[in-house]
Amino acid sequence: MSLDVESLPKHAANYGAHWWRSAVIYQVYPRSFADANGDGMGDLPGITSRLDSLAALGIDAIWLSPFMRSPQKDAGYDVSDYEDVDPLFGTLADFDAMVARAHELGLRILVDLVPNHTSDQHRWFQAALSSAEGSADRAFYHFKDGRGEQGELPPNNWVSMFGGPAWTRITNPDGTPGQWYCHLFDSSQPDLNWENPAVQEAFEGILRFWLDRGVDGFRVDQPHAMGKAVGLPDHPDVERAGAGFIEGEPSPPMWFQESVHPIFRRWRQILDSYPGDRAMCGEAYVLPLSFMALWVRADEFHQTFNFRFLDSEWRPQILFNSINESFEAFDAVGAPSTWVLSNHDIIRHATRMGGVVGRPTASDGIGPNDPQPERELGLRRARAATLFMLALPGSSYLYQGEELGLPEHTTLADEFRQDPTFYRTAGKRVGRDGCRVPLPWESGAGAANGFNTTGKSWLPQPEIYAEYARDRQEGVVGSTLELYKHALKVRKELQIGEGSFEWVPEFVSENSLGFRNGEILVIHNFGHEPIELPAGEVIASSLTGMSSGHPLVKDQTVWLKLS
Ligand code: GLC
Repeated sequence: MSLDVESLPKHAANYGAHWWRSAVIYQVYPRSFADANGDGMGDLPGITSRLDSLAALGIDAIWLSPFMRSPQKDAGYDVSDYEDVDPLFGTLADFDAMVARAHELGLRILVDLVPNHTSDQHRWFQAALSSAEGSADRAFYHFKDGRGEQGELPPNNWVSMFGGPAWTRITNPDGTPGQWYCHLFDSSQPDLNWENPAVQEAFEGILRFWLDRGVDGFRVDQPHAMGKAVGLPDHPDVERAGAGFIEGEPSPPMWFQESVHPIFRRWRQILDSYPGDRAMCGEAYVLPLSFMALWVRADEFHQTFNFRFLDSEWRPQILFNSINESFEAFDAVGAPSTWVLSNHDIIRHATRMGGVVGRPTASDGIGPNDPQPERELGLRRARAATLFMLALPGSSYLYQGEELGLPEHTTLADEFRQDPTFYRTAGKRVGRDGCRVPLPWESGAGAANGFNTTGKSWLPQPEIYAEYARDRQEGVVGSTLELYKHALKVRKELQIGEGSFEWVPEFVSENSLGFRNGEILVIHNFGHEPIELPAGEVIASSLTGMSSGHPLVKDQTVWLKLS
């Protein structure tokens, strides 16, 4: 690896700044966190009952995936009422109780806002269906006449992220074929028309609804999809780009349009008008990061997910480049970088790292017929990767279960699958269910290991989940849970999230990466040769039994306090 030390980015410390600049934010996937009423689906009272364990973990905030009213065609990312809790998860009163308890424990709550599309069951869409072409109700969405003599072809060549065309034709109330509506995801998720001021106004009301209820902010779903080029022209290169875009080429008509920025500026003003430093994180899949950084200018989003880092294979050169790109891009606009390794849309990193799955987001689940990952290797690497990530200054995201070292469910039978991706691709892409399986809390407590008391589970756990249950790891030296707790504690004590960053050339090679954050040296060994550590105190190690002076072995990370 060639290093021109002078040109490497250096990141300055930012002590005492806004909480969101350095927060560790834990993603709760409500369907699978904890189930209080025993129906097999996680719920808000379940989350409340387990908040103490999250406080004990040492996180700062929780991002809750959607729990709003929804027919659950895309696990809640298809909202039919933005201002109510789906009965599956409880009530608004349950929500208030959860927020109150979280705040008592010093945990902030961010809720998921899904503005690009609604459910087809939303009253806006139902009104659009029963209204005339060209009506104000239709103008909430993208309705268009089809192409071809009878309008039998979709209005353009766009394809859905979940497979198949991004258009569905409706049937008019009199039974004749009607217009087409656009859906970049499932046909049950019609895209809203963000050019329409009525849509903009409606969402400002929704933001206020949750801010008034005391939430600390939002994770915003697919914000880069909200704007569409005027006239909805064809994707210029659908053959190569599919549903997506090609990095470095002009943005296609459905992704990251300029027209969305004034909307986010308005949202920022709304958040800023509330006390308490509320924040929003955009799931803006915009690359390169120099483009993404435009989304976190001082008057727009506070954070975006760092998809470059998330999508980096765990190899020194790739990580080195992605970390450099991150600091360069986000520092240029004064925004914090975020760091993330797992979420509800990709293969859990403890599994990814135990097999050959290439780029994290390129692979779409692992099924029983696919090569199976090596569990031990994956966990060893995942622990090291997390420890490396948590030492990077900025805000880190954790996904529920990763603190247990939980692997993906890679042998889930097709009959249990729920992800629309599976159905829209006729099983070619098995989809995301494997990372969404309910959590094991108490080993052997019912069929679902303490997820509830009935043993029911909307997705069955694999047998191996009992080994990862929280009660088996609590207080156990060397467990993954204790590693996370320790790392988060030290991170807070030493203000690592607010700290500085600088590569240490001596440890940057084909086989290792090393950087300094203040007085802490962080090294990860990718290679077979053990690495001698300089003098100092080992304050965290991804392997147990590591004290000062030992060489660093393959797939291990240490934090060393330099003496
Ligand atoms: C986001 C969500 C994903 C969902 C999609 C459509 O990527 O994370 O789960 O399917 O948006 O809303």
